[in-house]
Amino acid sequence: MSFLSQTLSKTNQISKYLIPVSSRTLASFNKIQSLKYTTMSSKNVTINATHPDNETAKGTIEKINDDSQYLLPLYGRPNVIFNHGEGAYVYDTAERKYLDFAAGIAVNTLGHNNPIIINAIKEQISKIIHVSNLYHNENPAKLAKLIVESLEKKGKFADGAKVFFGNSGTEANEAAIKFARRYGKTFSQDKNVIISFNHAFHGRSLGALSATPNPKYQDPFSPLLPGFKYSPYNDIEAAKKNIDENVCGVIIEVVQGEGGLTPAKKEFIQYLRKRCDEVNALLIIDEIQTGVGRTGKLYAHQHFDITPDIFTLAKPLGGGIPIGATILSEKVAKTIKPGDHGTTFGGNSLATHVGAAVFETINKPQFLSEVTEKGEYLKKSLKEATKGSKIVKEVRGLGLMIGVGLDEKITPAAVADVCRQQGLLVITCGMNTLRLLPPLIVTKDEIDRGVSIISKSIKYLEDKL
Ligand SMILES: Cc1ncc(COP(=O)(O)O)c(C=O)c1O
Repeated sequence: MSFLSQTLSKTNQISKYLIPVSSRTLASFNKIQSLKYTTMSSKNVTINATHPDNETAKGTIEKINDDSQYLLPLYGRPNVIFNHGEGAYVYDTAERKYLDFAAGIAVNTLGHNNPIIINAIKEQISKIIHVSNLYHNENPAKLAKLIVESLEKKGKFADGAKVFFGNSGTEANEAAIKFARRYGKTFSQDKNVIISFNHAFHGRSLGALSATPNPKYQDPFSPLLPGFKYSPYNDIEAAKKNIDENVCGVIIEVVQGEGGLTPAKKEFIQYLRKRCDEVNALLIIDEIQTGVGRTGKLYAHQHFDITPDIFTLAKPLGGGIPIGATILSEKVAKTIKPGDHGTTFGGNSLATHVGAAVFETINKPQFLSEVTEKGEYLKKSLKEATKGSKIVKEVRGLGLMIGVGLDEKITPAAVADVCRQQGLLVITCGMNTLRLLPPLIVTKDEIDRGVSIISKSIKYLEDKL
């Protein structure tokens, strides 16, 4: 085979999976002795909650103050500086060890310092990091092929699918919204409305933010984009009314991550699928937080027995290297033409190579069934450990994406503070909920330890009411 025909054959293989958006040329803690967590045995956690500032490592406040001269102050953060991690643990500058049930907000699913990720990074950086989308490179199609081949060949994916790579969840959703508008316009100029749901979070760019009906995020940046409408989550009657012929796309998280860890009702998602088909709108599932194994299935929409027209991935896909992916059914992909969308960094050689290593590791029946088992174990253990608590209203979620709904008397931020002082990182979300996103490689012993710290931290705060 000549070099050109080899290249052409490779190019054809590549274009089988990637969406043709760019035209390209043809070349191929000072240690706090009183804190017991340093022993790290699972169930015997003693709560010794001191104010975080009292237990701050020497020099930390000075360093944070120093840094604040240069960094835009967008985030409220505790007085701890993390500088390394191993498995399910991170360490601060005083070498204090924290069990990490935040996992970089669902990013570090394979844990910290994982050799699979380290080796993939090393393998790639000495070859090439970035080529740009003006030229072909091998890695994006490798990951796109893995994603496309992971899809059940039924429903909307029966004819195949194509992948567009960006660099973040926001970008993946922004692309999905644009693609839905592009699709709608092939039918009518008026078919441009995007429906999203109360308490949703889809990102902070103006498009993604317009689909995120939270006044705290939206109001400072109004006016938002025209053509966005909101409907109540899990409300079939309202969806029926709101999703009409002018709708080109309906975007939804099947478990709302920021919104309070609320899983959608199966009937609701199945109704959305049906309604979208009736009015020729695209069903877009935002799997930025739920995707790539987090809920015990490779994609959370698989719990609902539906196939979306578009779904989006990001957070865990690159194991910490930024990447986003928008996956389109063939029918939608056909409406996108070269030049319609694009990115400089998206699909770069490094991110897609690491993404392929992460994806291959997680997309194994045994790995996924262990996530389901550990998720059920975490939920059951939390329910048992908090039985009788007047503060814990509900433990909910899917797989290793668990929310602990709290009574308004205690904020999840207060619980997260006490947990952190005991060596456990947890985060918060809407509906006064504590959000647990442990790495998918977490062990049952680590789950026992996390549950013990959470239940005792809640009890500690409850006793002070
Ligand atoms: C469901 C969902 N969509 C979109 C985003 C935005 O992703 P990113 O922060 O990578 O832009 C997030 C981030 O938390 C998310 O949870």
